[in-house]
Amino acid sequence: MKILLTGAAGFIGFHTAQVLLARGDEVIGFDNFSPYYDPTLKEARAKILAKEKKFTMIRGDILDRPALAKAMKGVDRVVHLAALAGVRYSFEHPEEYIDINIKGFFHVLDEVRVQKIAGLIYASSSSVYGGNDKLPASEEDRVDNQLSLYGQNKKDNETMAHTYHHLYGIPVTGHRFFTVYGPYGRPDMALFMFTDAILKGRPIQVFGEGKMQRDFTYIDDIVAGLVASIDKNYPEEIFNLGCGRKEELMDFIAMIEECCGTKGKKEFLPMQPGDVRASLADISKAKKMLGFEPKTPIRLGVPKFVTWYREYYNI
Ligand SMILES: NC(=O)c1ccc[n+]([C@@H]2O[C@H](COP(=O)([O-])OP(=O)(O)OC[C@H]3O[C@@H](n4cnc5c(N)ncnc54)[C@H](O)[C@@H]3O)[C@@H](O)[C@H]2O)c1
Repeated sequence: MKILLTGAAGFIGFHTAQVLLARGDEVIGFDNFSPYYDPTLKEARAKILAKEKKFTMIRGDILDRPALAKAMKGVDRVVHLAALAGVRYSFEHPEEYIDINIKGFFHVLDEVRVQKIAGLIYASSSSVYGGNDKLPASEEDRVDNQLSLYGQNKKDNETMAHTYHHLYGIPVTGHRFFTVYGPYGRPDMALFMFTDAILKGRPIQVFGEGKMQRDFTYIDDIVAGLVASIDKNYPEEIFNLGCGRKEELMDFIAMIEECCGTKGKKEFLPMQPGDVRASLADISKAKKMLGFEPKTPIRLGVPKFVTWYREYYNI
């Protein structure tokens, strides 16, 4: 297949591109190398992808509709991962979130309609579950209690995709990712920040006084789910993609400390606005319809991240 992959220089996009290329697909990456976090990491990912014959990177913005339209010509699928992806950053930059995550999403969706692309596979987030107390979170639960503009953006993306499917019959599949981690991971996420601070002897900030639980999902498992979805190309679905395990934050930190070979100083802080106390995915639907089987619990995934981190930053 020929696949347009937005956000290809990003964490999940980079890994997705590698798997698609390895199986022989042609991938057109589309990314604006946004400065939301250190773009040198994005450049490093892009450099690795550039070695592949069937990969092209277009440096473009999804807000630039003509550029997006040009990149989409003749593709079999659009995989849309480009977004502003941080929860906390959305408090300080609400307008950028509306521009990129809502208007940008609309551009992708509407261009898929205009060019009659055979399928749109896109990223949603576990943030759509927001303040719901019920665990594990299921795709059948009501999701109308988002706690951040980011969560609201993702919920709106799902609604927009649903409406476009209803009106124009476009195949659309959304994926609610649960706390994704792994090599080349995002510097604004907990595993990266904790590892970095522990290895450099800085204190780590532990929110929610450490009493939080997360469904941490290893990148390779996420990509396996996404690729299955590209192939299935269901008419209209939403899938939870998580590991399906609820880990205590303090156990997660202990594992990082073990991998780093040293204990971190901890600064316990209250919950942040927009944070949820616990997340856990019900993955039965993805198991049944995508053959999704997460293989990497944190005891296997965290060491892979720390090994990558030490090598990459030479620490
Ligand atoms: N990593 C997670 O835990 C997680 C969890 C839930 C949902 N998601 C979603 O998955 C997707 C990928 O996330 P990620 O972790 O790889 O984030 P990322 O920030 O590493 O990747 C997103 C990429 O999109 C690009 N981008 C941003 N604005 C753009 C624009 N206007 N035009 C073109 N490109 C633009 C960025 O430069 C970046 O490379 C996002 O939609 C995110 O919201 C991620």
